[in-house]
Amino acid sequence: MPFKFKLIVAACENNGIAKNKKLPWTIPSETSYYLRMTGEVKDKTKKNVVIVGRKTFEESPWKPHPDCINFVLSRSGLDVSQYPDTYAFKSLDEAIAKLNDEEFKKEYEDSWVIGGNGVYKEVYGTEHFYRVYFTRVFHPYDCDTFFPKMPETVKLVEDPRVPQGIIEDAGHKYIVHVYENINFKE
Ligand SMILES: NC(=O)c1ccc[n+]([C@@H]2O[C@H](COP(=O)([O-])OP(=O)(O)OC[C@H]3O[C@@H](n4cnc5c(N)ncnc54)[C@H](OP(=O)(O)O)[C@@H]3O)[C@@H](O)[C@H]2O)c1
Repeated sequence: MPFKFKLIVAACENNGIAKNKKLPWTIPSETSYYLRMTGEVKDKTKKNVVIVGRKTFEESPWKPHPDCINFVLSRSGLDVSQYPDTYAFKSLDEAIAKLNDEEFKKEYEDSWVIGGNGVYKEVYGTEHFYRVYFTRVFHPYDCDTFFPKMPETVKLVEDPRVPQGIIEDAGHKYIVHVYENINFKE
């Protein structure tokens, strides 16, 4: 069975995800949900992998992403030796090869794709593209980086682990939708 890439993103009404390399909003409960989903494992001897573009990794408040094995993508190469649980890859294919490694498979449970734009887009085209955990923030913030349009092959599904309904927090309103790629083959 191929491993499953689960994408997770928070986008505002114009699908914006960042402005000047920063999130345009601060929503504590949404951040907690994001860290819970990416960090949660059933088998406590394992961790989840997060796949992240170099810019998102560099701008993140967490290096490495908490409780996860970090796969940072950078074509120009990146020295990540100072960060625990962190690997750098020059292509998505290299990262996929590591995720398919039989020995490494014993170390991880889920593989979460945490952006940014080009990483999400490239993952849509792989056989591993399984789900998008999509938070819609109800405000059209001014953004310069956007979530790429999802393929036509996704349908809405339920996942009881995500917040249900419209949530209000810190002056913001948001909702979490989960989309599944109908072409994903177990
Ligand atoms: N709202 C959200 O949910 C959300 C999610 C993710 C990110 N963001 C925000 O978005 C901003 C940055 O996003 P971004 O789209 O501009 O950048 P990004 O995807 O984080 O990083 C782009 C860089 O990643 C590397 N890269 C991407 N695809 C690669 C591949 N297939 N193989 C090898 N390297 C690859 C390249 O690094 P090199 O230049 O080193 O070669 C590329 O310049 C961040 O500031 C973050 O805050 C928001």
